[in-house]
Amino acid sequence: MLAGKKVVLGVTGGIAAYKAVEVCRRLVDAGAHVVPVLTEGATRFVGEVTFSALASEPAQTSLWHERDPIPHTRLGQSADVVVVCPATARLIGAYTAGISDDLLTATLLATRAPVVLAPAMHTEMWEHPAVAANLAVLAGRGVHIVAPDQGRLAGGDVGAGRLADPSTIVAAVQTALTPPDMAGLHVLVTAGGTREPIDPVRFLGNRSSGKQGHALADEAAARGAKVTLVTTADRPVTAGVDVIRVETAAEMEQAVLARSDAADVVVMAAAVADFRPVDSAPTKIKKADGVPEVVLEPTADVLAALGARKRPGQTLVGFAAETGDVVASAGEKLARKGADLLVANDVSAPGAGFEHDTNAVVIVSAAGIDQDVTLADKRAVARAVLDAVVAARTPTPGRASGLPDPPRSHP
Ligand code: CTP
Repeated sequence: MLAGKKVVLGVTGGIAAYKAVEVCRRLVDAGAHVVPVLTEGATRFVGEVTFSALASEPAQTSLWHERDPIPHTRLGQSADVVVVCPATARLIGAYTAGISDDLLTATLLATRAPVVLAPAMHTEMWEHPAVAANLAVLAGRGVHIVAPDQGRLAGGDVGAGRLADPSTIVAAVQTALTPPDMAGLHVLVTAGGTREPIDPVRFLGNRSSGKQGHALADEAAARGAKVTLVTTADRPVTAGVDVIRVETAAEMEQAVLARSDAADVVVMAAAVADFRPVDSAPTKIKKADGVPEVVLEPTADVLAALGARKRPGQTLVGFAAETGDVVASAGEKLARKGADLLVANDVSAPGAGFEHDTNAVVIVSAAGIDQDVTLADKRAVARAVLDAVVAARTPTPGRASGLPDPPRSHP
């Protein structure tokens, strides 16, 4: 998808600028023609020579280049996509306000190509209302925002604002080049593992990190869908996604069933507890009182409930974490729960499943294996899942009955 595409890689002056070198290399490896554009601040962190050596053209840093009197219009008009990595608060503010005071901001204003911004900054700046408001405006204009991660920041601080992983940024560039094939659809996604309280300090939980569900929400939003994310995970999300935070299976059930009728696509990526304690102690259970006996009861199966009330034209996707015969179990679960697609992963495989940044899945439909996605970034897995959703919703000659309705538009 990136082969032969002209990518303007904007780099601004943040400590994460060194990671743009890796993004540049990966884009070139994927066959893209990469033109680096560095702000003056960026050159204080990484030299032009580094980018010039790795990219397809020498790095550019100035509007006043002797060889080319109007570099920004040439770059803006010829780009297939512009990605800014890292995007500082200054760049985001200038771009939102339409200020073009250097080559990169001028190029951003001079392009009609899709734009991807990968913000990186200190947590206080990332959470500042001005930055959040600017990003919401940009998201509303169709700019693809790659939400930063939590982690180590400059100066030894830890928090939200760390540049997203290079593979996630490259995946977002690929997505930006994808047509907005989910525009007009309302997609409801669940993510994370539920926590079932035993007492005010203890809970029964599972190893789900929410990364795959959040990647699905980000990908659906990037493809033009209106997205609602019901999540237990405290992870950043693309601006514009409607986020509902929940903790228990019962809260997730309530949040999902209240919204599912309005959704064209529901993706149950959450690891919902199958059992919960019958009673949750109102005060902390004391060790001195002896080993407690925790009696469990089943939770409601949200996916099965959605399958039972599925309306025509709605596409239902389930997930299954398996350890044995993945495909056989997935096929059985698909039928039992009334889903259209089931994404099965072997959680015992190295690098796949809970807590990892990568995943390897098999997407199963009633017809059998739809796609076999070998170990890939969770954003790439999200793309494959949504490709399967779009394909399942697209009427094909010969599919006589049970065709989903075409996409509906929502206000
Ligand atoms: N799920 C759900 N509600 C539950 C449990 C699971 O909606 N209470 C959904 C998950 O979000 C996921 C799928 O069902 O989409 C995964 O089901 P799983 O737990 O693997 O299936 P089980 O029915 O528990 O089957 P088994 O225990 O036999 O693996």
